[in-house]
Amino acid sequence: MFATASVSPVQTALPKDLFGAIEQLKKDLNAVVLAHYYQEPDIQDMADYIGDSLGLSQQAASTEADVIVFAGVHFMAETAKILNPDKLVLLPDLDAGCSLADSCPPDEFARFKQAHPDHLVISYINCTAEIKAMSDLICTSSNAVKLVNQLPAEQKIIFAPDRNLGRYVMEQTGRDMVLWQGSCIVHETFSEKKMLQLRMAHPDAEIIAHPECEQTVLRHASFIGSTTALLGYVQQSENEQFIVATEPGIIHQMEKQVPRKHFIPAPPEANCACNECPYMRLNTLEKLYLAMKHKTPEVTIPQEIQADALAPIVRMLEMSR
Ligand code: 13P
Ligand code: SF4
Repeated sequence: MFATASVSPVQTALPKDLFGAIEQLKKDLNAVVLAHYYQEPDIQDMADYIGDSLGLSQQAASTEADVIVFAGVHFMAETAKILNPDKLVLLPDLDAGCSLADSCPPDEFARFKQAHPDHLVISYINCTAEIKAMSDLICTSSNAVKLVNQLPAEQKIIFAPDRNLGRYVMEQTGRDMVLWQGSCIVHETFSEKKMLQLRMAHPDAEIIAHPECEQTVLRHASFIGSTTALLGYVQQSENEQFIVATEPGIIHQMEKQVPRKHFIPAPPEANCACNECPYMRLNTLEKLYLAMKHKTPEVTIPQEIQADALAPIVRMLEMSR
């Protein structure tokens, strides 16, 4: 269960002009709205900044706002709070968790770490504050290769919690790392077979993928990168059509940036919408408005882990420059 300031649910009539009301609250609270690309289009359109996990952390580290409204998932808002212990950090829906963060329980990870005492711990930012506090260095999908390449060749490394990103980083750096076997339910849902059938129907389409995908998907991709990197790639590529193997929320930005191009979401294995992150999609514009209006739900960090969780994030920000 996530730590939060407990309040009883508040019933509030919603204003007719939700966008206008949110803009007013931003001014009243001196608040900034940071949003991830997997948020619903309305949220993306009213955010002050939209980006990948690294960009969002950098924004959180440098903002002068008094209140950070995080339109993303819990570990992202937690990171913003770790960076800003004295600011109010709001998450529109406190249940917006992450399967990848959940796949690495702190007590099990502590035992894993103990079994590899001479290893440096690099954790993907998609983990809880407790895991961050047990880590030496945090990384994101956009800087993982760069950070691992900066470490001495003889340094033994534990990489947690995403086994798919970990394997990808091993391939790119030629380093051997001990991998925690966690994964994201969204990025493991894509079907290689259906994706290849889709490409037969669209022979000019390029497959692009997020490194949280399994190797069976990544091996067909002509470009692999974080959400921001994928967005950059479709802008500069000469290609006109793309099969996009990540959460389809990013397609909203792709269509805005390059409206003449065609983007096709990579299909999930089952006949479902399980390529949409169920956690990210818990946030809505209405909940965001209510969070700002009532200044809750607030994300908090236990005092005893604040300093230990901050150090590896600061190290990441320094090494990413
Ligand atoms: P990035 O936006 O950093 O690529 O991460 C994707 C993701 O899964 C966030 O949860
Ligand atoms: Fe977590 Fe996957 Fe959702 Fe990203 S897409 S927040 S890794 S469950």
